[in-house]
Amino acid sequence: MVAREIAALIRSRQAERRTAVLGLATGSTPQQLYAELVRMHREEGLSFANVVTFNLDEYFPVQPSALRSYRHYMQANLFDHVDIDPANTHVPDGTAPVSSLEVLCREYEERIQAAGGIDLQVLGIGRTGHIGFNEPGSPRRSRTRMVTLDPLTRRDASGDFGGVESTPRYALTMGVRTILESRRVVLMAWGQHKAEIVRAAVEGPVTPQVTASFLQEHDNVHFVVDRAAAGALTRYRAPWLLGALGDQGLSWDAATMRRAIIWLSRLRKKAVLKLTDDDYNEAGLEDLLRIHGSAYEANLAGFYQLQHTITGWPGGRDPARTRPGDAPVRTLRAPSAGVFPKRILVLSPHPDDDVIGMGGTLCRLVEHGHEVHVAYQVSGANAVSDEALARALRFARDSGLAGAEGAARIAALCGDHEAGALPDTPEVRRLKGLVRRLEALAAARVCGVPAGRLHFLDLPFYNAGPGSRRQLGDGDRAIMGELLTQTRPHLIFAAGDLDDPHGTHRLCLHALRDSLSALAREPWVGEGELWLYRGAWSEWPADEIDMAVPLSPQEVLRRRRAIFCHETQKDMALFLGDDRREFWQRSEDRSRRLAETYNSLGLAEYEAIEAFKRYGPAEFIRDLPL
Ligand code: F6R
Repeated sequence: MVAREIAALIRSRQAERRTAVLGLATGSTPQQLYAELVRMHREEGLSFANVVTFNLDEYFPVQPSALRSYRHYMQANLFDHVDIDPANTHVPDGTAPVSSLEVLCREYEERIQAAGGIDLQVLGIGRTGHIGFNEPGSPRRSRTRMVTLDPLTRRDASGDFGGVESTPRYALTMGVRTILESRRVVLMAWGQHKAEIVRAAVEGPVTPQVTASFLQEHDNVHFVVDRAAAGALTRYRAPWLLGALGDQGLSWDAATMRRAIIWLSRLRKKAVLKLTDDDYNEAGLEDLLRIHGSAYEANLAGFYQLQHTITGWPGGRDPARTRPGDAPVRTLRAPSAGVFPKRILVLSPHPDDDVIGMGGTLCRLVEHGHEVHVAYQVSGANAVSDEALARALRFARDSGLAGAEGAARIAALCGDHEAGALPDTPEVRRLKGLVRRLEALAAARVCGVPAGRLHFLDLPFYNAGPGSRRQLGDGDRAIMGELLTQTRPHLIFAAGDLDDPHGTHRLCLHALRDSLSALAREPWVGEGELWLYRGAWSEWPADEIDMAVPLSPQEVLRRRRAIFCHETQKDMALFLGDDRREFWQRSEDRSRRLAETYNSLGLAEYEAIEAFKRYGPAEFIRDLPL
């Protein structure tokens, strides 16, 4: 849609023998846009001969030829593949001496003016709310200048630079005012990790703390977002606040009703079954009274929807243990729902996500007699400190178990560094991966999963060297495809936790999606069901949960024991992130809080709950919230 708009602009200007002036962004967001423009050039004869471009920003300092420079990005993604005159492409100069930056930035503004101003500005949005690199605090009147990058922005970019330390600290960027002077603005955002900031930009106050919010004052701007990035907007979370659903092209389907009733119960701080006609009316939910006839009926409908998410039989009920009168398990819906026992595949991006995210459910599934496989997708070597590996090596040496030859090898590896600091060699990475593998084996023993059903995939994308971008390759997809073909699972549990700081979970989920779509014709794929759990970083919102597995206090303790097996990830773990709580604490806090939420909605009081969201394979391939 955006490419079509740009093409129409270029063509209409061609007809008038005028130039079209485009403001361009880099990053992951506009990649598909540029790919589509290149396709239009090749297949539909779209010419860029009359196009002038100005890029928003560039890292500083950086050589244009550097792999991660924005000049290089633009050449590789667009300019090298279309007939644009190189003299018409402008990207701020990351090589200029600091003393000349003021002049250089002023000239950039003057060039934009001389070109007649920007006709259409393409934007992405950073998680700090930045447009261009206008980080929090950038005033509305700001112009092209040098800026310091926000720590969150640097962390998000660190995957491209092989670590935060090697990620640039500075950039040159058009100012907020420069952007607002464009005649038309299109901001694009994809993925769940952008949802909160999109909401802040669109619905929050206009503030320099979220520079994208200044776009609210522009009179010709469109936000183009996918469903996941739209997820926090009122239009999605509470559309009834914006008028009749029918007028918005929506309807009162079961999911919307459940969302509304949970929302109302929280708003009125009352259990669902205690909501009254007045509660519904005063909150603008009179539609639900009309549909159900009364608050009593609406409450019951909402209550049962919630109730039916709860099951102690996450893989379905064992027919041999079912007595007449037992409530049916309503969570499983796929054709394979009745199969018992099932083949179940739990995908754990790192070697500890399985027990952190769904350790209680994992134990249940094993106990119920299913054939449970756990596949650890990456080695997790990056998160093992040198100190932890050196200690293990010293143990092998000092115990005499390594023998003379082993001791010599250990000495060669550790050198004189008794306290740690090992070289970053493939051998050291392999050994660190082994440390995590042994921890995963110990945790799986706690959960009762036999070693023969553990799969250590060691996906190659994770091992990209420092300075190189991590991306999925055919090797990763082939390994995933082979695992799926080998296990042919009825149920797949995968981490749908897309806020992990290093993007590993997202790539692991991509790998699953790609291999499932390659196998889409296999009958077992269509018969199965996919459940996404959340790892250490965030929980599903209550209104998106399709299966809630309650845990007893004993099960919580058993899960804790399993998490404890991941000793290298305890208090001194390298990647705890901004949250100082350890992983077992996060896991317990989260599942206890969810149990409290269910209880406050008026459902039974449990010690803890683990939650899952359902996807049929087809919808997963289509709608994955990336
Ligand atoms: C890039 C730029 C930035 C990005 C933003 C989103 O030229 O100015 O504002 O648009 O950081 O980055 P991605 O698209 O990688 O999520």
